[in-house]
Amino acid sequence: MTRGFFEAFGHDPEGIWAAPGRLNIIGEFTDYNDGFVLPMAIEAVTTAAVARRHDDVIRVSSSGAPATTTPIASSRICNLTPGNTASWSSYAFGVVWAMTEAGHAIGGVDVFIESNVPIGAGLSSSAALECALGLALRDLFASTISLQDLALLCQRAENAYVGVASGIMDQTASLCCTAGHAIEFDTRSGEIEQVNFDLSAAGLELLVIDTQVHHQLATSAYGDRRSACELAAKAIGVKALRDATLADLDKIPDDVVRRRARHVITENERVLSVAALLRSKRFIEVGPILSAGHQSLKDDFEVSCAELDLAVDTATHAGAFGARMIGGGFGGCVIALIRSEDQRTIERSVTAAFASDGFTPPRIFGALPSPGAHRVM
Ligand code: GLA
Repeated sequence: MTRGFFEAFGHDPEGIWAAPGRLNIIGEFTDYNDGFVLPMAIEAVTTAAVARRHDDVIRVSSSGAPATTTPIASSRICNLTPGNTASWSSYAFGVVWAMTEAGHAIGGVDVFIESNVPIGAGLSSSAALECALGLALRDLFASTISLQDLALLCQRAENAYVGVASGIMDQTASLCCTAGHAIEFDTRSGEIEQVNFDLSAAGLELLVIDTQVHHQLATSAYGDRRSACELAAKAIGVKALRDATLADLDKIPDDVVRRRARHVITENERVLSVAALLRSKRFIEVGPILSAGHQSLKDDFEVSCAELDLAVDTATHAGAFGARMIGGGFGGCVIALIRSEDQRTIERSVTAAFASDGFTPPRIFGALPSPGAHRVM
């Protein structure tokens, strides 16, 4: 990491910061409906090695930067303009832009990014990048920003600078999660509760099945579902679907919009049920709720795909307590709650099922609740 920084910029970094990807246990598409989510941090992280400069220039490089093009992207901070979405470096520029726009005196920096968070897998690789750099800039220039305010600034970078209309879950999870816990996060009030989720002590783990499928549809569908939720809230007469109940569904004339709303309403209930089960350490009972969540994402929210469904069905038949797709949908990962000792058997079954249906072999690994963003050096 320090070597990559030195090779790019010819001097050493002042420090290195790491921010993890996240895995959402339950609470999909609830964050932009003022609802509840229950994510945890994963072990994979994005790291940002950073050194301050004496001017207002930001230079960004990465071990993943293509060698054939300019390996360093740079800009004066005063010239940063939203909508500059040409490459991954815009996520870094966006963070500097958002912090500056909020009135923080961010100076020039050299930044070197490295990551082992799978990209496009629904594990929040973009939030991990934003949060690693955001935490570095906070420590170097604006130490009074709280982690939750920093999450909002990183979200603003993604929404307004990069132009992706994501909710607040990913950045909050990456910054605020702690090892051995999930966070129960009320996206309306901002309230966060660390909920014990010491899976390994119970001989359990979450198996992550990365289908390696990335459908183009995901971005347009995300906006489309978001609009449907706003329409539903309007039809019911509430500020957001967080305030609606199943009895309100009759007020929505359109069948598709009604099903979108039903997913959000039932999903919020699932988050609260799972959080209650975790508090009483009844981990195994979480399984069927995950599976019910998947069914709802498949039938009501319609964001699943054949590979995700196959992973869920096969893992469940092979012994998982429950499974569901996570993240934005149309590809990415499934999580399955399993006994650690069953990992090999379930892996083999899922791999065999993918081969027999002619799908790309999935990448499968276990995940435990890991530390949130922190300074490494
Ligand atoms: C993406 C967004 C999140 C959230 C999820 C769906 O990961 O970035 O804010 O909306 O989709 O739950």
